[in-house]
Amino acid sequence: EGFKRAAEVKKTSEINYYGSRLETSDDLQTNAACSMPSRTLPKSACEALKQVHPDVCKRYFGCGLVIPEKLEGCAVLDLGSGSGRDCYVFSKLVGERGQVIGLDMTDVMIVASQKYVQYHQEKFGYSKPNTVFVKGYMEKLSDAGIQNNSLDVVVSNCVICLCPDKRTVISEAYKVLKEGGELYYSDMYASKAVPDSFKEDPVLWGEGMAGALYWRDLITLMKDIGFSTPHLVAGSHIVVHNPELQRKTGDVKYASGTYRIFKIPQNSIKTKALVTYKGTVPDCAECFEFDASHYFKTNVPVEVGAEMAAILQNTRFSTDFNISMLETTGLNQSSTPQVNVMCCVHILFILLIRFSL
Ligand SMILES: C[S@@+](CC[C@H](N)C(=O)[O-])C[C@H]1O[C@@H](n2cnc3c(N)ncnc32)[C@H](O)[C@@H]1O
Repeated sequence: EGFKRAAEVKKTSEINYYGSRLETSDDLQTNAACSMPSRTLPKSACEALKQVHPDVCKRYFGCGLVIPEKLEGCAVLDLGSGSGRDCYVFSKLVGERGQVIGLDMTDVMIVASQKYVQYHQEKFGYSKPNTVFVKGYMEKLSDAGIQNNSLDVVVSNCVICLCPDKRTVISEAYKVLKEGGELYYSDMYASKAVPDSFKEDPVLWGEGMAGALYWRDLITLMKDIGFSTPHLVAGSHIVVHNPELQRKTGDVKYASGTYRIFKIPQNSIKTKALVTYKGTVPDCAECFEFDASHYFKTNVPVEVGAEMAAILQNTRFSTDFNISMLETTGLNQSSTPQVNVMCCVHILFILLIRFSL
């Protein structure tokens, strides 16, 4: 019953919030939409961003950096695409052969984003548009015409925290990704489980604070659905500048985090490996900063845990590495080094939340 009620408050509050209440990102009550990414954008993404129409950028309400590397030719879906800022950056990065779908439930946002499709097609010199915006719910992607196993990358920028049923959203993303595909998303996380009373408050819903996941629950959720362990790419503390909201949220602290998570084939061989990055990912000639704890220098062999080895072997990055498996026995071995890496990643997140207050 509580879950249903939360969904109702969320649905009405959000349509009003993003459809009419917020004119620009300055109207948000936290710095989530303007918190600086804790790593620099690749050069090609910076250049693409400069070419996005200012009216689209003005209504950016995201909370992080959702631009993974090596997108040329990819099919990308943006869950909760808003005014379309990230979609237009992807439009440039996937190139004319690629495809971008922006999905949003709010009419006003769909209309606002669609208005600039032709502008960007012409700006990027494409003979036909590679970007579409569809109205729909991320909880029901098939209803919006999105096919299973059809996408290389699913991204989302500050939207999953607005949704009461995260398991359904993540399962839907899993279904529409091809094997080897990547879920790369930025979201708000809470330092503890958010009290049910927050879910009755339309502003806390609209700002993402009522629906933010307790960060520890992320790993279990992803693993249950079949995804790899989440890899933290970047994170930053979120400042609540409205005193009324500070009072309402009390000792619950918030951070934004960008994670990359993969749909690795279930039967992939998982053993430790020695991997050497070839320097071939665009914008990453010297090194490839895969996440906050994996930094691959060009032509320098490093040992990686079993799950990371499976990711590098089975995704679009497979051609960018020379990979030698270090163990030959056993399928789907659990990976102790990788688990340790994830502990480090989450310690990093605790530090972020606790010490940037
Ligand atoms: C915080 S804004 C982020 C917009 C965009 N990602 C950006 O970075 O500017 C959230 C957007 O998600 C949309 N949204 C929220 N819940 C949704 C759902 N269940 N399905 C589809 N869109 C949703 C809202 O309409 C709104 O446009």
